[in-house]
Amino acid sequence: MTRSETFAGRTLFVAGGSSGINLGVAEHFARLGARVALISRSAERIAKAAAGIVDAGGQVLGIAADVRDFSAVDSAFAQTRDAFGEIDIVISGAAGNFLAPAAGMSSNAFKTVVDIDLIGTFNVFRASFPYLRKPGASLIAITAPQGARPEMFQAHACAAKAGVNMLTKCLAMEWGPAGVRVNAVSPGPIDGTEGMARLTATPELEAALRGKLALRRYGTRQEIADCIEYLAGDGARYITGAILDCDGGMMLGDASADALAVPERA
Ligand code: HXC
Ligand code: NAP
Repeated sequence: MTRSETFAGRTLFVAGGSSGINLGVAEHFARLGARVALISRSAERIAKAAAGIVDAGGQVLGIAADVRDFSAVDSAFAQTRDAFGEIDIVISGAAGNFLAPAAGMSSNAFKTVVDIDLIGTFNVFRASFPYLRKPGASLIAITAPQGARPEMFQAHACAAKAGVNMLTKCLAMEWGPAGVRVNAVSPGPIDGTEGMARLTATPELEAALRGKLALRRYGTRQEIADCIEYLAGDGARYITGAILDCDGGMMLGDASADALAVPERA
């Protein structure tokens, strides 16, 4: 089977698909021949993202829906199934983040990020279940290194993504017998994204983070799409409950030359 035949005619649903990494995934699968549904809060941003896919020759359905609203998400899945048939791949990537010291963060600020990232991922995966191709469907959460290691001023996002990681594993156990695989991809810093603009506000901070990565560069949206193509595809048919790091080595820790003083040899 050639690469493009694998996904031709398959249906992909992307939550948080109006921009960034998630839109890159949608565009990639549309190029491979998949029928793509996108949801996000803003009707205007979703319409713009969908128009881009149509202009490139893809098949797409854009729906405004907030992942915090279960019935809106359920309705989006029903519309997608009616338009494109049973759903093969679901990406849960809607997220919110900002730098905020915990001592000054409001309870509502913490709750807002948990609601979007964690409850939103539960809503998306739970709502998808009746509409999935069974056996065969593949669900993929977009998590982050912060879900497995703490970061300053991101207690909200770290806690939410840690929950996403555990939810991924629990659903993999429960839904495996139905032939549904549930995995997550954990991107490192990805060039030109809203997420990195929010976390590394200055060129100095960006360079400092790059210098700590083993691969010494930020990733690209295409590299995340390639990783998801693998996880959703036949080559990963025995993989479920995995958190796949696609992060230039970020999870290895600080790989800068000055991380430790090099001892002089006597
Ligand atoms: C402190 C803040 C804040 C900030 C908002 N709040 N921004 N607190 N510092 N910078 C507080 C508000 O004061 C409010 O609390 C509460 O959060 C909710 O704010 P709203 O604006 O009403 O929320 P909402 O309109 O739902 O917007 C959600 C949002 C927003 C997360 C706050 O930034 C957003 O829409 N983000 C989506 C885009 C995004 O973040 N992309 C990056 C994802 S990348 P009070 O108490 O005043 O009511 C990513 C990075 C990598 O996730 C991975 C890391 C884990
Ligand atoms: P982004 O462009 O801001 O993408 C977030 C998307 O989520 C947008 O399409 C946004 O669209 C949507 N969204 C936000 N709140 C929503 C809600 N309540 N309901 C539905 N949709 C909602 O950010 P990004 O940087 O590409 O990040 C994408 C994913 O990758 C996130 O899960 C993030 O945590 C993860 N990640 C990113 C990086 C990075 O380097 N950027 C690193 C690790 C992990 P609307 O505004 O239209 O709703």
